[in-house]
Amino acid sequence: MSNRVEPICSVKGTRDLLPPDTNLWQRVEAEAHRVFAAYHYGEIRTPILEETALFARSVGADTDIVMKEMYTFRDRDEESLTLRPEATASVVRAYLEHSLYNQGGIHKLYYVGPMFRRERPQKGRYRQFYQIGAEVLGSQSPLVDVEVLEMLVLFLERVGIREYQLLLNSVGCPKCRPEYLDVLRQALENVKPTMCADCQRRAETNPLRVLDCKVEADQPIIEKLPKIIDHLDPECRQHFDCVTSGLQARGLAYQVTPRLVRGLDYYTRTTFEITSGALGAQNAVVGGGRYDGLSEMLGGPPTPGIGFSIGQDRLILAVQAAAVLKSEAPLAAYVVWMGEAALAPASRLVRELRAQGLSVEIDYDPMKIKKAMGVANKLQARFAIIIGEGELAGGRYQVKDMTTGEQQELSPGAIASFLKGKF
Ligand code: HAM
Repeated sequence: MSNRVEPICSVKGTRDLLPPDTNLWQRVEAEAHRVFAAYHYGEIRTPILEETALFARSVGADTDIVMKEMYTFRDRDEESLTLRPEATASVVRAYLEHSLYNQGGIHKLYYVGPMFRRERPQKGRYRQFYQIGAEVLGSQSPLVDVEVLEMLVLFLERVGIREYQLLLNSVGCPKCRPEYLDVLRQALENVKPTMCADCQRRAETNPLRVLDCKVEADQPIIEKLPKIIDHLDPECRQHFDCVTSGLQARGLAYQVTPRLVRGLDYYTRTTFEITSGALGAQNAVVGGGRYDGLSEMLGGPPTPGIGFSIGQDRLILAVQAAAVLKSEAPLAAYVVWMGEAALAPASRLVRELRAQGLSVEIDYDPMKIKKAMGVANKLQARFAIIIGEGELAGGRYQVKDMTTGEQQELSPGAIASFLKGKF
């Protein structure tokens, strides 16, 4: 009988992110921190675990996310908890829990982190995925919508995404939507028997959801259904017109897409998605919109809000396709020491260089010079610093440029500023 232990793998739909890819993830996040800070957003970190009711009440009990995709379990004390499938509900919960509305003014918050949805995994779709998102709470102004989109576009361009489309729509508000839903229900009466089972159910429970059905055979039917954009009340219409004229004034291209109702129930007025041609089937990189009623749905005071979430996994795929940002964490120097006596000074130099922020590597096992230079090459070190008996005696170390092969002698104290000049 073999006593070999079966290896344990990562859970289906989850994955390990490894270097050097994680370097690209970090650089994308660093750009988000920079761009969002410039627009005066502050970072919020909310828990990954929330009460299940938070998502049922906000995302909507009849959405795919809540009905089929949440990781929900009973805690030991019988409380129903859920791994967050998205973060907008959590941000609004935190905003209410900490009474941020009492501070007046608007709040601009952003987040970066993992979300969980039990979807069928495929390229660009995972069960644990990551979002970079931003939310503005406390303003109804359509110019805030425009500014949010402007920031989003700036961020995408900063990380090298050029080919994308901004799809835009308005889903109206609780005043004008019921009228549209009646029209939609009536139109669905005739066609729903020919549609998929989900649409037949949604036609009764939540007809708006029919519009984002992905079943191929239903698409021509959906195309002919009445459009919400033609049924907005005057205030919603004016809001939408201000958004589009604001986008035009700032030279931001968009495409009005009447079917874009999004898969979450909290939206009002502006909804949008950004798609990228580089991505294949899972081409939505960003989703977002306004949610002026969400605070009240969660028991808070009326607080308009708008935001977006970027799917970071998909963004990274698009960034890799655009090949502007690349995974790279350049190693400034590899320090080679020859003979026991050189180990302590070599370690001291490595420590000093690292303390100055330079990326430096050393091996602690003795090696022949040829092998050590091979390691420097393999690690793609920009310089090799060689410390042997002669260098110790002379008080100057060999610094070899690994790209040109040029070599010079520098005193230990001069090496940091020399290297810094190269990076
Ligand atoms: P969402 O459209 O559900 O919106 O998700 C936003 C983005 O997250 C999607 O466009 C996609 O890039 C990414 N995403 C979603 N599911 C997966 C998955 N299974 N695997 C990989 N990526 C995925 C929201 O989550 C809203 N909270 C957006 C929002 C913020 N609305 C207002 N504020």
